[in-house]
Amino acid sequence: NNVGIIGAPITIAQPNLGVDFGPNAIRYAGLAKRLDQLNITYNDYGNINIKNEGSDKQDPKTNLKNLDEVVKGNQQIAEEVKLVKKKGEFPLILGGDHSIAIGTLAGLYEFYDQLGVIWFDAHADLNTGETSPSGNIHGMSLAVNLGVGDEQLTSINGNQKKVKPENTIIIGARSIDDGERDFIKEQGIKVYTMYDIERKGMENVMKEAIQYLKGRVDGVHLSLDVDGIDPLHTPGTGTRVVGGPSYRETHMAMSMLHDAEVLTSVEVVEVNPLLDDQNKTAEVAADIIAATFGEKYL
Ligand code: ARG
Ligand code: MN
Ligand code: MN
Ligand code: MN
Repeated sequence: NNVGIIGAPITIAQPNLGVDFGPNAIRYAGLAKRLDQLNITYNDYGNINIKNEGSDKQDPKTNLKNLDEVVKGNQQIAEEVKLVKKKGEFPLILGGDHSIAIGTLAGLYEFYDQLGVIWFDAHADLNTGETSPSGNIHGMSLAVNLGVGDEQLTSINGNQKKVKPENTIIIGARSIDDGERDFIKEQGIKVYTMYDIERKGMENVMKEAIQYLKGRVDGVHLSLDVDGIDPLHTPGTGTRVVGGPSYRETHMAMSMLHDAEVLTSVEVVEVNPLLDDQNKTAEVAADIIAATFGEKYL
């Protein structure tokens, strides 16, 4: 079906300006042409008009930075995602920092009974105001989607969990904070760390993840943080962590998701052209997106 492209340029849930240019950087890397070549039709709704203005101060009460503004931006994203879903289109959301997943999933969840999420990331993004070392909300977005965090965030488009822990899979993790480790254990979230990926191989990890989700969910949202990929390939991002999956491993993982026909929405986040090397990170993002839509070179 038709793809609905949404640019979601929130930047103030993390400290590096420029991630708001991510959506256009991915477009300039040739996204539309790639979809055309795959005979995929799309509507590009442009970028949501996000007001990226906050004090950047950690609130002494909540420990969060720019809470009101991040809430507002994510409400806008949730509404736009709902519009695209109501048209029967496949949402493709371009970030923006990873806080946008709060708005995306707030918009998506009501269209499913059991929505699955694949969180491809170097991080777990499972912090709360209490556990966060930084106060940056982009490190809290998965927790919020699981119903844990500041109420202003967890109540966007309905005060309930947007996804269940047993329907959530994290892939690529290699930088997990102490509070996040506890959270993972308490909630029983499935995590494939880089250790698991190295031991089992990416192909087996993806086979397991796909098989697990296929048995239990009625939709899968892929939330791909480009810092999940090794920074050799994606240097243009704010929180780089060495030792990630290669370009090829990631590309294969995305092709496997396409071939399994499980994905119902995709988002790619944390592309920051101001930290990049000649838009290379956005080009990788476009390649990765093309793979999720079935690009196989032949
Ligand atoms: N764990 C760190 C924090 O909470 C880093 C989070 C990075 N998140 C991201 N979406 N890039 O501050
Ligand atoms: Mn990350
Ligand atoms: Mn992330
Ligand atoms: Mn296809």
